[in-house]
Amino acid sequence: MRGRGEKDEHVFKDSSVGLMRLLFVLILFVIGIIIGLVSSSHIDRYFTSQPNNFYMDYVTAAPAPTYTTSIAKISSSDHNCSSGSTVCKNDDCLSMDSFRMPKSLTHKMTDNELFWRASLVPDKPEYPFERVPKVAFMFMTRGPLPFLLLWERFFRGQDVNKYSIYVHTNPGVHLRISNSSVFYNRQIPSQDVRWGTVTLVDAERRLLGNALLDFSNERFVLLSESCIPVYNFPTIYKYLIGSTHSFLDSYDDPSRYGRGRYSRRMKPDIKLRDWRKGSQWFEIQRTLAIKIVSDTRYYKLFKWYCLPSCYPDEHYLPTFVNMFHGALNANRTVTYVDWSLGGPHPASFGAKDITVNLIQHIRNNGTTCSYNEERTSICFLFARKFSPDALGPLLRLPSTLLGF
Ligand SMILES: *[C@@H]1O[C@H](CO)[C@@H](O)[C@H](O)[C@H]1NC(C)=O
Ligand SMILES: *[C@@H]1O[C@H](CO)[C@@H](O)[C@H](O)[C@H]1NC(C)=O
Ligand SMILES: *[C@@H]1O[C@H](CO)[C@@H](O)[C@H](O)[C@H]1NC(C)=O
Ligand SMILES: *[C@@H]1O[C@H](CO)[C@@H](O)[C@H](O)[C@H]1NC(C)=O
Repeated sequence: MRGRGEKDEHVFKDSSVGLMRLLFVLILFVIGIIIGLVSSSHIDRYFTSQPNNFYMDYVTAAPAPTYTTSIAKISSSDHNCSSGSTVCKNDDCLSMDSFRMPKSLTHKMTDNELFWRASLVPDKPEYPFERVPKVAFMFMTRGPLPFLLLWERFFRGQDVNKYSIYVHTNPGVHLRISNSSVFYNRQIPSQDVRWGTVTLVDAERRLLGNALLDFSNERFVLLSESCIPVYNFPTIYKYLIGSTHSFLDSYDDPSRYGRGRYSRRMKPDIKLRDWRKGSQWFEIQRTLAIKIVSDTRYYKLFKWYCLPSCYPDEHYLPTFVNMFHGALNANRTVTYVDWSLGGPHPASFGAKDITVNLIQHIRNNGTTCSYNEERTSICFLFARKFSPDALGPLLRLPSTLLGF
C-alpha cells in the first residue's frame, strides 16, 4: 500500500515537468511538419507515385530467388490454385482464367467467407472478356443422381459456355461419375442437410454462393434429384435468359399452413402482412442471387424463430423477396409439381405413370402464364417428383416429345 502511495505522489510531482516536456515535443513536431511541407512542395505527387514504387519493387524483386520461394511457400501451405503439381512459381495465380474459372470447385472457405466473396459486384460495366450469360443448374441431392443419364442427354452437344453445373450432396457422398460426363468434378463442398430445418436454406445459399463465383452465371436454377427437364436446353436457355423476372414462388396463404406459421417474435422486422409461402424450387437472376447470399438479418430471424411446424425453406425466400425485391419476381415457379392428391407430400411419378400424355400435360395443360408482360403457353420447364424407376420409361419417350 505504502509503496503505491509514494509512487502516485512521485508521479503527481513529476506531472508539471512532464507537461513542459510534452509542450516542447509538440513544438518540435509542428516545426518538423512545417519543414516537411516546405521541403517537399509536391506532397500530392509523393502519394500518387507510391504505388508505382511498389510496382517497381515487385518487378525488380520478382526474379530474385528469395521472392519465388516465399511465393511457393505461401501457395503450398494454403492451397494450390493450379491443379496437379505445378505451383504458382510456374503458373500465374492471379491470371484472369484462374479467377474466372478455377480448375476445381473445391475450397475450404466457410459459408461466411463464401457469401462475402459471392456478394462482390464489379463496378466496371464492361467485362475484360466475352461474357456469354450462363444458366447455373444447381442440384441439391442426398445421394446419387438417379436421372443422370437423362440430364446428360439434355446437355449433350450444347454450348459449354452457356451452362454450368453444381451438385450439393450429403457430406461424404462421392458421386461415381465418368470423367467424360458434364457432371464430372462438379460437387461443391457440402454440409449436413436435415429436411425441414434451416440447413436446407443453408445448402441453397451455399449452392448460390459457389455458383456466383463464376461471373458468367446469370440465372440460377435449384433442382433436386427427382427433377427432370421437360423442354430441351435451347428452349430453357432462351426462356430464362430472356426473362426480366425471377421465378420464385411467393404467395400469401391465409391458412394455418401459411400465416399460421408466422411467429410474432419476428416483429418488427417481419410483419404478418409481409409473410409469404412458396415452393423452394426457384429459378432466379444474378441480382437476386447476390441479395440472397448477402442477407444476414432476415435469415437469422428464420433460423431462430421459424421452427417446426414452420419450415424455413418454404417461407424465408418467398418472404424476403416479397419484402425487398418483389418487382424482380414473377412470383411463380417454373418447376411443375402435382399436389392434387393432397397431403404433406406431392405425387411421385413412377415407371407406370410415364406416358406421352403426362409429359404433354406438364409441358402445356391449356393454360397460359405471364412472361415479360406477355402470355406464354410454357409455364413449366422442369418437373418433379419422379422416382428412380421412371428413368427407363423417360429415356424411351420419343425424342420429338421432349426435344432432346
Ligand atoms: C501443393 O502442391 C505441392 C507440390 O505439388 C505439394 O507438395 C503440396 O502438398 C500441395 N499443397 C496442397 C495444400 O495441396
Ligand atoms: C478418363 O478416365 C480414363 C479411364 O479411367 C483414363 O484412361 C483417361 O485418361 C481419363 N481422361 C482424362 C481426360 O482424365
Ligand atoms: C410479384 O409480387 C410482387 C409483390 O411481392 C409485386 O410487386 C410484383 O409485381 C409481382 N410480380 C408480377 C409479375 O406480378
Ligand atoms: C394447368 O396448370 C395451372 C398451373 O399449375 C393450373 O392452375 C391449372 O388448374 C391447370 N389446368 C388444368 C386444366 O389442369
